[in-house]
Amino acid sequence: MRITVLTLFPEMIEPFFTSSIMKRAVEKGIISYRIVDIREYAEGVHRKADDIPYGGGAGMVMMAAPVSRAIEDSGSAGRRIVFPTPSGRPLTECYAEELAKEEELCFICGHYEGLDQRVIDTYVTDEISIGDYVLSSGESAAVVIIDAVYRLVEGVITPESLEDESFSSGLLEYPQYTRPERYCMKSVPSVLLSGHHRHITEWRCCKRLEKTMLNRPDLLSDASLSIEERRTLLKILNKDDKGTCQRWTLSEL
Ligand code: ADE
Repeated sequence: MRITVLTLFPEMIEPFFTSSIMKRAVEKGIISYRIVDIREYAEGVHRKADDIPYGGGAGMVMMAAPVSRAIEDSGSAGRRIVFPTPSGRPLTECYAEELAKEEELCFICGHYEGLDQRVIDTYVTDEISIGDYVLSSGESAAVVIIDAVYRLVEGVITPESLEDESFSSGLLEYPQYTRPERYCMKSVPSVLLSGHHRHITEWRCCKRLEKTMLNRPDLLSDASLSIEERRTLLKILNKDDKGTCQRWTLSEL
């Protein structure tokens, strides 16, 4: 996958491509990237890339001409072009999977009060929101979207690592533990040390359901639960006063 990022602040983007799993994906040739400095396409001694909004109002708007020139010059026109904005379509795992199928993606990082609508109308294919809050820069939102997408490209992460993740079956992920067995008076749940694979699977299933119920009950109505998972959910809902849920004690859950 080839990723182009158009930005007024290249220094905010570069570290993402040169660190951790993305760095490895780039070295393996699975991902290639280009960061384009929009200011290089702005005119005048001051390379002005923003101006006051027509109709009045606070803040500045990114000008159409420098951004359009950057899009055209980078060969991104006519490709899938993402503009991160709080007024966009919400990013979900399913949407990220769709974008991961593209050979090429271009991101325009907005700043100030936004981007001249004519650029959006002419070039942008996807306006994406990463959540119901407002960030001060489109760069952080672009990095979030790129992160959610590139890791789904074949060869970046092993398929097994993606299997039990949050949202993989419409539920949140179960908790993980590593050595030591006891840390700060807290023990690893005994079932995970038992070596009993069926019990471990059942425990994890129970935890996924419990966590989803607690943090994201809205996901449960859309999750395709097996009969066994439905039974477990009912058992979690019917915990007795002592906090006992089927074979696990509350402290283990
Ligand atoms: N830019 C500023 N806030 C944003 C958000 N919530 N999602 C996407 N882009 C943004």
